[in-house]
Amino acid sequence: MSSIRKAVFPAAGLGTRFLPATKAQPKEMLPVVDKPIIQYGVEEAVASGIDQIIVVTGRDKRAIVDHFDISFELEHYLKDRGKTRELQLVRKISDMVDITYIHQKEPLGLGHAVLMAKDLVGNEPFAVFLADDIIRSRVPCMRQMMEVFQQRQAPVLALYRVGKDQVSRYGIVKVKSTDGRVHEVEDMVEKPSAAEAPSDLAILGRYILTPNIFGLLENTREGVGGEIQLTDGLRALAQQGPIVGLEFEGTYFDVGTPAGLLKTSIAFALERPGLREELSGYLASLDGRSEGKPGPSQ
Ligand code: UTP
Repeated sequence: MSSIRKAVFPAAGLGTRFLPATKAQPKEMLPVVDKPIIQYGVEEAVASGIDQIIVVTGRDKRAIVDHFDISFELEHYLKDRGKTRELQLVRKISDMVDITYIHQKEPLGLGHAVLMAKDLVGNEPFAVFLADDIIRSRVPCMRQMMEVFQQRQAPVLALYRVGKDQVSRYGIVKVKSTDGRVHEVEDMVEKPSAAEAPSDLAILGRYILTPNIFGLLENTREGVGGEIQLTDGLRALAQQGPIVGLEFEGTYFDVGTPAGLLKTSIAFALERPGLREELSGYLASLDGRSEGKPGPSQ
C-alpha cells in the first residue's frame, strides 16, 4: 500500500457551542492565542509529510480560504513598513501546502463530510484531521500513526486514555489485543456511559483510513440527529478487516468547547515569552478576587 499523501479536514460543522462567535465564521478560525485552530492541525499534517490538504467547508468558508491564500494587500503593506517578521509570518502560511476546498452543502454529519472528499482522495489511503483536537508531541501524532500504518497496512485511529468521568464525551474502543501502544480494535461505542464503556481509550480526531470507507459511508444510514456518523462507517470498516488504534505519545488539547479553548489558550500563552509574565500576574490577581473588584482594564 502507498504512503499517506492527502489529508481531509472536515470544517463544515455549525460550531453551535461557540455561538454567536460562529454565526459568520467557522469555529476552525477561532484563535488559540493568535493562531486559528485549523492552522495547528495543518502544521501537524505538513510536519508529518502530507502534501495535499482537502478542507471540507460549510456556509462560511471565506475566512479559511483567505487565511491560507496569499494576501497581496497585506504583504504590500507589511513590506512597505519594513515589518519583516510579520511579512515572513503571513507568507509562511500561504507557502505551507497545497489546499483544495470542497463544499458540504448541508451539515449532514462528520461521515458525510468525509464522503465529500471521495473524488479528491481517489483510491488511496488518506488522513483525516479534526482540527478542534490539538495534539502536541515530539514526533507529530499523524507521523506516529503513519509508522503504524506502514507496519500494519490497516486503518489507524488515534487513541487517548481518558478518566471514567470523561468517557461519555468520546467514541470509546473495545480492544481485541494489545501490542505495546498499538491496540487492535474489535468494536467502538459512541459516547457510552461510564458503566457501559468497554475501555478508557477514547478516539481522538486523527484517523488514517483506507478508500473502502467511502463505499461504506455511502451505505451508512443516518444515525443520531439525522447525521451520517463516521463511527458507523468505522464499525462497518472493522467488519471488513482489522482496524488498529495507536495510543500516541503526546498531549491532547480539546478546543471544541469554550472552556477547552480558554484553557488551551491560557496554557499556550503561558509558554510564550512576552505573554507569560503579564498573563501569570493577571491570573494570580484573579485568585480569590470577588465580584465588584476592578477588572484587568480598569
Ligand atoms: P462536531 O461534532 O464538533 O460539531 O464536529 P460542530 O458542528 O463542529 O460543533 P458543535 O457541536 O455544533 O459545537 C466534528 C468535526 O466535524 C466537522 C466539524 O466542522 C468538526 O471539525 N463536521 C461536522 C462537518 O464538517 N460536517 C458536519 O456535517 C458535521
